[in-house]
Amino acid sequence: MAQTHNPTHTPAHAHTHEFFTKLNCPNPVTWTNDIKQMFTSVDVAHMITAKNIHLDSYQSVKIWATTIYTAVAPPPHLHSMPPPGTIGPDGKPEQPWTQDKVDTFGCWIQQGCPE
Ligand code: HEM
Repeated sequence: MAQTHNPTHTPAHAHTHEFFTKLNCPNPVTWTNDIKQMFTSVDVAHMITAKNIHLDSYQSVKIWATTIYTAVAPPPHLHSMPPPGTIGPDGKPEQPWTQDKVDTFGCWIQQGCPE
């Protein structure tokens, strides 16, 4: 099969099934134990307003999972969520997700988004 490479830019559509299959995921990840706590009440409220995506709903986050992954993954991906400068529920700016948090979300996708 012909291979095409663009080493300077990783497009958003790089987050394919194959991408998630290749993640190293030693631990089981579930919505209840790991994922639902990743979104603040501020994230939930803003994303209902912005796109009607319910980050507090298992079904909604499951449906949007790969789009959410691209949104929270570090640059050069298209969206950067939460947007820089967002003030969280504790009154402090929300930080970009750590690589560890992004990886946990990716492993949840690899494992089929268990509840
Ligand atoms: C971890 C938290 C968040 C996640 C996972 C998230 C996820 C997403 C996703 C997946 C999209 C793209 C939807 C699409 O492609 O149609 C998006 C768009 C958007 N989000 Fe968020 N979001 C988060 C936090 C926030 C917050 C805190 C705000 C506002 C302060 C916000 C405002 C927006 C807006 C205005 C858009 C539409 C414009 C755009 O696509 O860039 N989001 N978000």
